[in-house]
Amino acid sequence: MEKLVFATNNEHKLSELRQIIGGSFELLSLGDIGCHDDIPETADTLEGNALQKARWVKERYGYDCFADDTGLEVDALGGQPGVYSARFAGPGHDSKANMAKLLAMLEGEENRRARFRTVIALIKGCETHLFEGIVDGEIMKFPSGSEGFGYDPVFRPEGWEMTFAEATPDEKNAVSHRGRAVAKLIAYLNE
Ligand code: IMP
Repeated sequence: MEKLVFATNNEHKLSELRQIIGGSFELLSLGDIGCHDDIPETADTLEGNALQKARWVKERYGYDCFADDTGLEVDALGGQPGVYSARFAGPGHDSKANMAKLLAMLEGEENRRARFRTVIALIKGCETHLFEGIVDGEIMKFPSGSEGFGYDPVFRPEGWEMTFAEATPDEKNAVSHRGRAVAKLIAYLNE
């Protein structure tokens, strides 16, 4: 079976992918290949970060590999927080602080349009591929719901009456940025 590394330390993402990737690949974690590196994510785009992580593994460990990066892009903030979504409120701050900063910056703003965007970079042999998944929506004025993580309590997908944090994991995965990017990756791998 072909071995493929998912360059993530997030066990939740890994087990989700293991369930859907199909029988033709053995999906390995960074731990499985003995990689305990603090892989740099210093690019200023989602594409750059995803590529940086996938290349790190391919170049140092020799495995075919894919890596993802996600950001929340808010129109009224010129696309911020974008690639800086995880550390928007500064190093050591959590999702609550990130959401509080976002809501404060959007105080009084009528244009609440935003999107989550995920980019997956795959390096297979000597080929590199990028897969993108987007979900459009808007930023609510107050957080609601307790499911999910990150900015889920303040993000309402287009056409929905609730935030991502009020949805079940299956409801979210069916339309989410990551779900869509992963579906493209899997369709390509199973071609
Ligand atoms: P990552 O690239 O998946 O680690 O995501 C970077 C940051 O984007 C996370 O730390 C979260 O703040 C935010 N984020 C990514 N995916 C989601 C999501 O599905 N819901 C809410 N926030 C997310």
